[in-house]
Amino acid sequence: MKDILTAPFLIEFEKTASNMYRLGWDERNGGNISYMLDEKEVAEYLDLNHVIRDIPFAGIQSSSLDARPVAGKIFLVTGTGKYFKNVESDPETNAGIIRIAKDGSHAELLWGYKDGGRFTSELPAHLMSHMARLAVDPENRVVMHCHPTNTLAMTYVHPLDEKSFSHTLWTMSTECVVVFPEGVGVLPWMLCGTDEIGVATAEKMHDFRIVLWTNHGIYGAGKTLDETFGLIETVEKAATIYNIIGTRPILNNISDENMAELIHIFHIEDTVRWDFLDLPEDKKH
Ligand code: 13P
Ligand code: ZN
Repeated sequence: MKDILTAPFLIEFEKTASNMYRLGWDERNGGNISYMLDEKEVAEYLDLNHVIRDIPFAGIQSSSLDARPVAGKIFLVTGTGKYFKNVESDPETNAGIIRIAKDGSHAELLWGYKDGGRFTSELPAHLMSHMARLAVDPENRVVMHCHPTNTLAMTYVHPLDEKSFSHTLWTMSTECVVVFPEGVGVLPWMLCGTDEIGVATAEKMHDFRIVLWTNHGIYGAGKTLDETFGLIETVEKAATIYNIIGTRPILNNISDENMAELIHIFHIEDTVRWDFLDLPEDKKH
């Protein structure tokens, strides 16, 4: 059996957590990551027949999550109350590897949460988001939640409808429409760590890889840690530009016609939310 601390998937996870911390997205215990692992790869490092303990699903309260669609799947998940800044130096305390039980009713701990801890209180939202994304993209592996400063600030001052929020972000940097052509989903303020916010997030995840939680943060999903990180990074960059502009009048903006040019040159005609742009019909396809 190889040493799990040398596993590339764990090292990449640790480095991602450190980068998120350094960018100011994850103060204190803010944020959480879940990463679906390949069973064969994990078997090189862990005895998959050895379950350390069963852990019931729960957020800030008990959860009635039915995780049957991901039964048997293995996830590397940050621990509740754990600081992102400490994941890299002590992954075995600050993260864990869990397998979803065969009946989808709880998780089996295979490694980690060494101090008796448990997975993030946002696990219901993570697993529901994984299930939603897998239904539209079988290659989805990552769900990432964090509190990026500028995106969070923007949710205080910008109207929350998805068309206008997505459109504003797209205009804040030329490549935004290329990176998230489907726009962003937006939820109003809701109580975090509950099944309710999980259901609402997962509903949005059918259409969007980015879901904003007003006055709280962001959820991102993707095929890899890098892709998901890059998605959040791009949204946060756009929100930063929005905040730097502040109330000064915009003299030179990216027009919807400019965006149509980008959409055609990058061949994202089938994924872009055309209804988030105000263009005549003949300019749309
Ligand atoms: P956890 O410490 O339970 O992961 O919660 C952090 C958080 O960001 C809640 O939304
Ligand atoms: Zn949070």
